[in-house]
Parts: sequence; structure tokens; C-alpha cells
Amino acid sequence: MAQFWKPGTEKPRLVEDEDGGVIFLSSSYSSSSSGYGYVSIEKQRQRLPVYKYRTAILYLVESHATTIVVGETGSGKTTQIPQFLKEAGWADSGRVIACTQPRRLAVQAVASRVAEEMGVKLGEEVGYTIRFEDISNPDLTRIKFLTDGVLLREMMDDPLLTKYSVIMVDEAHERSISTDIVLGLLKKIQKRRPELRLIISSATIEAKSMSNFFLSSKRRQALEGEELRPRLEPAILSVEVFSLGRGFNVQIHYVEDPVRDYVQAAVSTVLLINDKEPPGDILVFLTGQDDIDAAIKLLTEEARSNGKNSSGLIILPLYSGLTRAEQDLIFSPTPKGKRKVVISTNIAETSLTLEGIVYVVDSGFSKQRFYNPISDIENLVVAPISKASARQRAGRAGRLRPGMCYRLYTEEYFLNEMSVQGIPEIQRSNLVSCVIQLKALGIDNILGFDWPASPSPESMIRALEVLFSLGVLDDDAKLTSPVGFQVAEIPLEPMIAKMILSSNELGCSDEIITIAAVLSIQSIWFSARGAQKELDEAKLRFAAAEGDHVTFLNIYKGFLQSGRSSKWCHKNFINYHAMKKVMEIREQLKRIALRLGIVLKSCETDMQLVRKAVTAGFFANACRLEAYSHGGMYKTIRGSQEVYIHPSSVLFRVNPKCVIYHSLVSTDRQYMRNVISIDPSWLTEVAPHFYQQQRHNPTIH
Ligand code: CDP
Ligand code: MG
Repeated sequence: MAQFWKPGTEKPRLVEDEDGGVIFLSSSYSSSSSGYGYVSIEKQRQRLPVYKYRTAILYLVESHATTIVVGETGSGKTTQIPQFLKEAGWADSGRVIACTQPRRLAVQAVASRVAEEMGVKLGEEVGYTIRFEDISNPDLTRIKFLTDGVLLREMMDDPLLTKYSVIMVDEAHERSISTDIVLGLLKKIQKRRPELRLIISSATIEAKSMSNFFLSSKRRQALEGEELRPRLEPAILSVEVFSLGRGFNVQIHYVEDPVRDYVQAAVSTVLLINDKEPPGDILVFLTGQDDIDAAIKLLTEEARSNGKNSSGLIILPLYSGLTRAEQDLIFSPTPKGKRKVVISTNIAETSLTLEGIVYVVDSGFSKQRFYNPISDIENLVVAPISKASARQRAGRAGRLRPGMCYRLYTEEYFLNEMSVQGIPEIQRSNLVSCVIQLKALGIDNILGFDWPASPSPESMIRALEVLFSLGVLDDDAKLTSPVGFQVAEIPLEPMIAKMILSSNELGCSDEIITIAAVLSIQSIWFSARGAQKELDEAKLRFAAAEGDHVTFLNIYKGFLQSGRSSKWCHKNFINYHAMKKVMEIREQLKRIALRLGIVLKSCETDMQLVRKAVTAGFFANACRLEAYSHGGMYKTIRGSQEVYIHPSSVLFRVNPKCVIYHSLVSTDRQYMRNVISIDPSWLTEVAPHFYQQQRHNPTIH
């Protein structure tokens, strides 16, 4: 397929000059570097732009409560700043330096890189914690990487986070929901712990709005017209201006006409680059595992049929849930004569830097969470990215030498239609988890909480309503005892937590804990690259009439019976690594359950109990079959929204009358993923308040 590329007129710089107040780091290696080759780790460290600012950063951290560091991706913020801090003594006398990331994969990758740079074993001096995986040691770990979600959890046990001397909130520009909550809480903690140091670091943060957030309004007034005296000011920002470094230019190309299929267009563009352009790795931005797998399949096929030139391609996926070995491949240098093609979600936009990328292909989309408080529906949508993201993506090409970025959208679209900035996640999320966490931390006035960006009152009210119906909050919107506290204690979404608690009463906790473990990983199926039919057949072998949740139980049983065999998994299109992860998570959930006094009990074959427990947690996601048209059209019982069973579900085309889903994804329609059939009368039983309106409605009985 021919592509007609049009060179862009956008200035290929990534970030507009700031007019002061911020440390700005460029991402290119310093000019003294001798190119990309084998150099010692220490040399590599010294070549990173952040190295030049070591003293300045340490000075600012010493003299300010909060330091904001803005620097391009790859300048060394994440891997170097924690090491600088440690070298300067911030981890002496048992104290710990924390660095948060929004993404789990990034936590693992940077922690292992830093351990390698320091020549220590991961999990000792340098460790990390993500949900269900703690590779740190309370006695030894001095630098700890963790997700911002885990930091929130840690606050439940230690509200002032006393073991940390410095907390670096990284990737703040992503504005993930947990980052925003963490920032709001850290601001509170700072008042109680003046010795605590915060570093907020990011690639594109509007540094001014962040520093304003950390300045109380009173102080803002006091400072107006007055020069800032850093040493005397107890809490606030760094204000130093450094010379602006410059990355390599990235030449931008746009498509002449809008593309219809971005996966196909991305694949054609990769082949075009491979044909026409000199060596250099290619980074492709798509949206998620589905389209990445589809692209890999297509690319492999087309490369094969294309013949000679394509044998040098090493095609690799990059999304969360990769195994350690798969991650290592991404970071390992490309062998001579080969060209790496990494096909990634937006994790490679700023969280991870891959060396050797010269070409970027940008689909213009990413998967984003959207929540509508009116319909009370949250789903993952493939949505257009912002200009800020587009610039970040392009910037990934200019690390080693001048690069090229191929945007699979038109220049007119970029200039006139793309939004300037993304919307903070907190303003487009269901707030159920967020509210319960704040409640558990004793923050009662949630509407009055000091948010970096305020969520909508409607979303708040919806969340309070669901939590009330779950029996987690009482009439005064306080956590109930014991249910509310127990739900808050379980590190899973409140609906799953409630499902686990109910299973204890119903006598099916053994089964429900397995289901909860499976629901916490992305998928236990092996992605069917080109083998959809075989995958469907494999699914049929386990399919349960009740739905996906019960199917998971069949798979789990089969896996145990096989002696946890990887061969068995392979034969049945089940992802062995995912199953191992399920076993691990299950063990941890078992421990947590035990702590909460839940006795593991199996209901043997009585699946009605399992379905009831699911209903007790997920009643809010109940849907009723409306029509058999289009393969079965459902409507949510509460909000009357049109939804369909996802083709990956075992209930696809089976269409039971009443179902409950675990999550929604939206493509051409809203699809329910992980679906189980229920008896509608259970809804009023488990959530009378929630379904009050419908109580007299004969259709749900
Ligand atoms: O945080 P920032 O984007 O500013 O940079 P960084 O993540 O600290 O990356 C600094 C350098 O470490 C880059 O050259 C990365 O390629 C390298 N790095 C790596 O080789 N392997 C990792 N797992 C993480 C970073
Ligand atoms: Mg970073």
C-alpha cells in the first residue's frame, strides 16, 4: 500500500521554553559523548543530562520542601535522582528514598536498571513494590520504587510515611488518578513533617500550576511582589533556571489523507521505513494488547511475503504484563544488521526510554478511561491523544541522532483538532476506589479535599452511592465496621473486595478467591496470533454455561490437575505465565483473607453460591437482555445504557436474560468483558437501596 507522506511544519522541539522557575533537562547525550557503543555504566551515567545538575538538584532538595524537576524523557530523572539522593546521605540512618511511578512495568524496569547501575542485588539496597509483588527488604532497601497506588496503601499503615526521607513523585505529567491523590495527601503530610522532602518530576508538567498547588493561597499572597527566599521558606518549590539543552531534531511527517485502519497503516509505514531508510530502530505507538498483537501478526505476514529486506526485523510487543525475559529483549541492544521494531502502548511515551530508536510511528490514539456519571458507566476507550502526547511520542525518535516521526493523522488534524493537553484521569474515572481510600485515611470531607484537579461532584455522589449500597459507608458517609474497614484493607477494587467478603458468608470463598485472582490480571488466554479458531475451540473445552467466572474455575482446576504444567497450558491456549501469576496472587489473597478472619471454604459444585457472591459485589453492573438483534443487545438495569457481550466471553451469542459484567471496553460498541449470568431477583436481595426504583418494576423480577 502506498503512503503519501507530507513533511510537517511543526517546529520539531518538544517542549516550549519555560520562562523560568524550573529545571529543564534535554534528553540528548552531552556533546562530549563519543556515540553509542560499549561504555562503562559509570560513564553512561555521567553522560546523562541530569548529571550536570546533580549539585543543583541536591541543593534544591536540601533547601526546599518541594522541588519540581522538569526534564525530557530519557534525561535520567528516574534512574539518577534517587542515586544522587542516596549518595548525598538521604538514605542514611535507616531512612528510605521512595520513587513512585504510575505504571507497574516501569517500576520493575527502572528498579532493575538502578540495581544494575549500583551493582547490587535487586530486592536488597534497591527494591520495588507493586501490587502483589514486593521485591524489597524492610531492613536493607534504601531506594524503593513503587507505584503511586502502593504508596497510597502504605499510608493506611503509616499515615505520615515516616520511613521515607524523600519521596519523588515521578511522571507527574501523566496525572494518573493515584498520582493526583498522592499529591493531595503529600501536601497534607508535609505540614506535619516539615523534614520530608518532595520531588515532583515530569516530562511536560505545567510546572507553574504544580508549584501553585504546593503554595498555599496565603503564602501565594505573601509572596506576591516579594522575592522568594528559599532557605527561609519552609515549604515550596524550586526556582532555578538552567540553560536549556537541546535534543536532536525530529522530522515530522503526516499522512496526506486520514487513515481508516491505523493498525494496517502502522504496519505499512514500518515496512516503508525498513525499505527506504537507513538503519535505526522503530517504535510504533498503538493502544493495547489487542491491536499490538494484530499489528505483529500482520507485520510478520507482510514482512514474510515481502521477501528479502524484511528478514532483519526483530518485532517485539511492549505492554504491561510482559514477563521479565520479554522485558529484557526490549532493552537489549539490537544486533548488528538487524532492526528492532517495538510495538508499544503509551508506556514508551515517557515512562521507559528505549535506546536506538530513530523512527517513531504514531497512531494518534491511546486507550483511555472514560467515566460518565450520568449513565454511571466507565469504560476503556481508544481515544485521540493530545498534542502534548504527540510531541512526547515524536521526541522518542531524537535520542541518539536526528530522527523521524510518522504521524498517522493529517497535519490539519494535528493543528486544528487535537486537544492541547489531556484531561487528568481523576476527571474521567469512576471514583469508587478513590473515595474508599480517602475514607480509610480519615479524609472525611472528600469534596473539600485539596485536589490538584477537582473531580466532578456528580462522580463523587455516584461513588458514595455505590459504596453505601455495598455496605461500605454508613448514613454519615463513614466507613462501616467491620465491612467498610475490611473492604478498604483488601488491595483490590471495592467491588471485588465485597465479593470476597460475601463469599465468606455464602461458603464459597475458595472459589471466589480464585476468581478474584484471575480478574486481577489482564488475560489468562494466550493471545491467538493467527489462531483464533484454535483458541475458540480451547475455550469451549472449559466453557461453563454460567459464564466466564465459572469458566475460570474450570481452567484453574485443569491447571492444578495437570500438575501446573506449561505443556498443558500451551496445548489449551492458556498463558502459562499468567497462570503462575494467578497462583501467586491467590496465595496472597488467601493470606489477606485469613487476616480478615475469612475461612477458606469450597462450595464444591454449587455454582449458584458463586454467582450470588459475584452479584453481591458487582450488582451495579447488572444488565438485562433487550433484544436478540446484533448478536444480543443488553441494557444496564440502572442506567439503561446499551451494551453487548464481548466476543471473547463464553456467553457471547448465548445471551442469558440477565448478566453481570466485570468491565466494559468500547470500540464500535460498548462491550462487556467477563460476564456471568444471574437471577435478577438477587439484585434487590443484595442491594435493595441501589435498586429501589426498580423494586416495583416487574421486568427485573
Ligand atoms: O526518567 P527519565 O526519562 O528522565 O530517564 P531515565 O528513565 O532515568 O533513563 C535514563 C537512561 O537509563 C536512559 O538512557 C535509559 O535508556 C536508561 N535505562 C535503561 O537502559 N534501562 C532501563 N530499564 C531504564 C533506563
Ligand atoms: Mg522517568
